[in-house]
Amino acid sequence: MRHGRNGTIRVALAGLGVVTALALGGCESTYGTTGMATGTTQMGGAPKDGEVRLAAEYRTWPQFLTGIDKEQIKQVRDIYINPVGARTMAGKAFPNGTMMVMELYKAKEKADGSLEMSSDGKLVKGDLAKVFIMAKGEGWGQGIPDPLKNGAWIYSAAGPGGKPLMEDFSKCRACHAPLAQKDFVHRYDEYFEKRRGG
Ligand code: HEC
Repeated sequence: MRHGRNGTIRVALAGLGVVTALALGGCESTYGTTGMATGTTQMGGAPKDGEVRLAAEYRTWPQFLTGIDKEQIKQVRDIYINPVGARTMAGKAFPNGTMMVMELYKAKEKADGSLEMSSDGKLVKGDLAKVFIMAKGEGWGQGIPDPLKNGAWIYSAAGPGGKPLMEDFSKCRACHAPLAQKDFVHRYDEYFEKRRGG
C-alpha cells in the first residue's frame, strides 16, 4: 500500500519534468532527457510530420504571440514557444529542441451569425478547435523534397485534448517554405518586436 503510493508520486513527479522533452509517438524512454527536448537519440531515428506529440504543459511556456484575429476564417490564435526556443536572439534561427504550439480557437458568433467583438474591437475566443505544432531537432525534416523542405522543422497537429490529428502536412510545408529567411516562421519579426517591447 505504502509502496504503491510512493510509486505513484514518483511517477507523477517524473512526469512533470519529462513533459518538457518532446513526447514522441510510442517512445517511453524520454525519461531523464529533461531539457533536451529532442529525444532522438533514444528513438534511434528522427520523427516525421505528425509524430511529435503535444507537450502537455505548453500553456506554461512563454507566449510567442496571442490574440491573433483571423476574421475571414472566424478564428483567434494564440502561439506559445518552449523555453529552449524562447532563448533565441533576434536575427538568429531557432535552435534544435524548439517547439511552437499554435492554438486555433473558434471566434464567438452572435445569433445572427456575425462575429462577436470585445469593447476594444477584438474577436472573442470561443472553443479551442485544434492546435498546430512546429518542432525542430538535429537531423529532422531531411528526405523531404526540396520545395517542401523547411530546414529541420517538422509539423504536427492535435485535437483540443492533445490527441494527434492527421492533417495534410505538405500544406503546412508549402505555406511555410517561402519564409526560409525567417527560419520558416511567419510571425518571426512580430515576435522579436514584441520582445523588444516595440
Ligand atoms: C496557407 C498558409 C498556411 C498553412 C497551410 C499553414 N500555415 Fe502555419 N502559419 C501561417 C501563418 C500566416 C501564420 C502566422 C499566424 C497567423 O497569421 O495565423 C502561421 C503560424 C504558424 C505557427 C506559429 C509560428 C509562425 O510561423 O508564426 C505554427 C506552429 C504553424 N503555423 C504550424 C502550422 C501547421 C502544423 C500547419 C499544417 C497543419 C500549418 N501551419 C499550415 C500560414 C500557414
